[in-house]
Amino acid sequence: MQAIEAKVEPKLPQLITSLPGPKARQIVDRDHRVLSPSYTRDYPLVAKTGRGAVIEDVDGNTFLDFAAGIAVVATGHCHPEVVAAIQKQAAELIHMSGTDFYYPNLVELAEKLAAIAPGKDAKRVYFGNSGAEAIESAIKLARYHTKRDKLIAFNGCFHGRTMGALSLTASKAVQRKGFGSLLGGVFHTPYPNTYRGAYGIRPENAAADCIGYLENELFKRLVDPEDVAAIVIEPIQGEGGYMPAPAAFLQDLEKVCRKHGILLVFDEVQSGMGRTGKWWAADHAGVEPDILCTAKGIASGMPLSAMIAKAHVMNWKPGAHASTFGGNPVCIAASLATIGLLERGYIANAARMGEFISKQIEGWRDSHKIVGDIRGKGLMIGIEFVRDRKTKEKAPDLRNRAVEMAFHKGLLILGAGENSLRLAPPLMVDEEQATFAIRTLEGIITEIERSI
Ligand SMILES: Cc1ncc(COP(=O)(O)O)c(C=O)c1O
Repeated sequence: MQAIEAKVEPKLPQLITSLPGPKARQIVDRDHRVLSPSYTRDYPLVAKTGRGAVIEDVDGNTFLDFAAGIAVVATGHCHPEVVAAIQKQAAELIHMSGTDFYYPNLVELAEKLAAIAPGKDAKRVYFGNSGAEAIESAIKLARYHTKRDKLIAFNGCFHGRTMGALSLTASKAVQRKGFGSLLGGVFHTPYPNTYRGAYGIRPENAAADCIGYLENELFKRLVDPEDVAAIVIEPIQGEGGYMPAPAAFLQDLEKVCRKHGILLVFDEVQSGMGRTGKWWAADHAGVEPDILCTAKGIASGMPLSAMIAKAHVMNWKPGAHASTFGGNPVCIAASLATIGLLERGYIANAARMGEFISKQIEGWRDSHKIVGDIRGKGLMIGIEFVRDRKTKEKAPDLRNRAVEMAFHKGLLILGAGENSLRLAPPLMVDEEQATFAIRTLEGIITEIERSI
């Protein structure tokens, strides 16, 4: 770890103005006049610079970042090696378009991703610019390859907001409202929520019940499995509340797919690139999806996504799918530097710090009445807020208060799902920073409990 440690000065937050400060207030006002009102901002952080896990705002306040730009800056903000790789590449070649031309680092990154993707089968890689684009390409490839057009996705999952990806997304109605008909032939089935169950799924038997629902309800009543091109799943639900699917469920899902000639697509846009303490959430279950989509952490903040498919599956012809910017040389340089850092210690650190945090907070389930569930893998940890642990009544207002209060104590966190919050720091976070985040959060939870 020593050799790749980013210089982080300071490591902990320091607030010097009330929040938002005067400069932040001005930017927020201007933003509200000109930016799309569809953006969702939980609190008025106006970022100016970032180093490691620390963000400094325009007024000179510093914050500890446990949101990492929505689980993106895997190596921390502006890691010197990533910055140097970007600067070098920008001085040599900024754009070429891999759709029409060749360049070396495009091949280098594809080879690397093919090598680290789960399983032994040979892989091919398609590059896009965002998570949603990777999902769009997976939908198209699955239809193209199987010559089938139906798709199955899961309740509560989030796959992006472009029209194809949105057709799979079943996270919040507001994300679909007003946009008319989406892609036809998409069916949703229950996700194995091991805390709540739902739709007749028993939490303690979620894996088997969800497979049973798929085979005995969906396949018997709504769609013949032989018409299904792909089943698309987040192996750990991200936006839906940081809920991991049990390994047994993912393994059985793989078997169901094999039985019916359906492609298994893992959306690892949020759970991939080492965040869980292994390269992929798939690796925790020993499953080899036919297609894996990844983005967010892939290039430490530069816009890049990848769809990695088994080589025999990616059999579409020239012209079938492409993008002008996908696989941009500067983004790829950032990604290669990111992957080097992940391999040299940050994935191991994600596993270690994930365990450290999880151990420290697991007792909150008993000691704090508004904490219903704590779950996750590596540095993808969800905390679900309830009004009452017995009834499991959801408490989105308490979660929202916790997020807002954390900001005012210098800790940046984000909600996930209706009533959970997520801990998703950069993978280089250290024990001192994790301890600060834990203590701050526990203080906030205690304060909220006293007030209700
Ligand atoms: C699992 C998952 N898939 C897809 C997406 C969409 O990615 P993007 O916002 O880059 O389009 C997200 C974004 O949060 C995600 O978490």
